[in-house]
Amino acid sequence: MIDAIERKIEQYIRELNDKRVLSLYKKLPKGKRLRTKLILKIAGESLKVIKTASIIEIIHTASLLHDDVIDDANMRRGKISINASEGNKSAIMMGDILYSKAFFELIDISPLIAKVISNAVVELSLGELADVELSKRFHTDREAYLKMLYQKTASLMEATAEAGAILSGKPREIYRKYGRNLGLAFQMIDDILDITSDSKTLGKPALHDFTEGKVTLPYIYLYEVLAHEDREYLLSLHRKKLSSCEALWIKGAMEKYKIIEKSYREAKELIEEAIELMESVGERDLSNIAKAMIEREF
Ligand code: FPP
Ligand code: MG
Repeated sequence: MIDAIERKIEQYIRELNDKRVLSLYKKLPKGKRLRTKLILKIAGESLKVIKTASIIEIIHTASLLHDDVIDDANMRRGKISINASEGNKSAIMMGDILYSKAFFELIDISPLIAKVISNAVVELSLGELADVELSKRFHTDREAYLKMLYQKTASLMEATAEAGAILSGKPREIYRKYGRNLGLAFQMIDDILDITSDSKTLGKPALHDFTEGKVTLPYIYLYEVLAHEDREYLLSLHRKKLSSCEALWIKGAMEKYKIIEKSYREAKELIEEAIELMESVGERDLSNIAKAMIEREF
């Protein structure tokens, strides 16, 4: 079924009738297609579902093209990113083209679904702006961080699940909450993997978040338990290219104070709630998607 989505996305891209756009599109790595898997499991395999899934994947791809420009990233999913290989201008315009085409197609799905998805894209963009602001200096504002996570990552996952529920006449609120929890946990695990995985597994440099300025939950929790001098040392490493010795210090401190376990537990609670929600409506496959998320290694 994923094949049908890939074909539909490619059809949308070909309809743009531009060789350069098609060749740039072919350079993009496909990703996990998590949102597609979600909506197909919720709503089945009708043409409307295939179109909606393709539109959501195109929006997601557009947002990552822009995100890599904003983050000045060189790699995406283990490959050289478009901004790095083709320049920022091409990456930005490619993002705009994909985003606009997705909205053009979205209008035909239904006004309600168009509203749900476009509202999520507003949240997504507000979340990215908040991420940029929060990354400028070290902070310990857990609430602001969680709000940003919701906006940047969970909102599109929440909207995907809700769109699936609307398309299949299922209760919107339950699926919405499921998508939201999945999205939040996904980003929390992403933040943890940035600390625990090596760069080969991640497809991007490890401990990169802190160097980029991102003070993710594990760093907030670590700061809370450190003594004064160690806090100062941690602060001195923020937004800095880390030597292997400094990176080891961070990893060692995270281990010493069991910070990864604490952060992981928080993601796990969200996943457990998502599993319960799906089991209450007899959705075994969706509950398994949630279980797999907490076990992923990249
Ligand atoms: C990845 O975050 C970024 C997002 C999930 C959202 C990015 C959103 C925008 C750029 C605004 C929306 C723009 C359009 C065109 C729809 P990350 O940097 O923490 O994750 P990463 O490690 O995968 O880069
Ligand atoms: Mg990024």
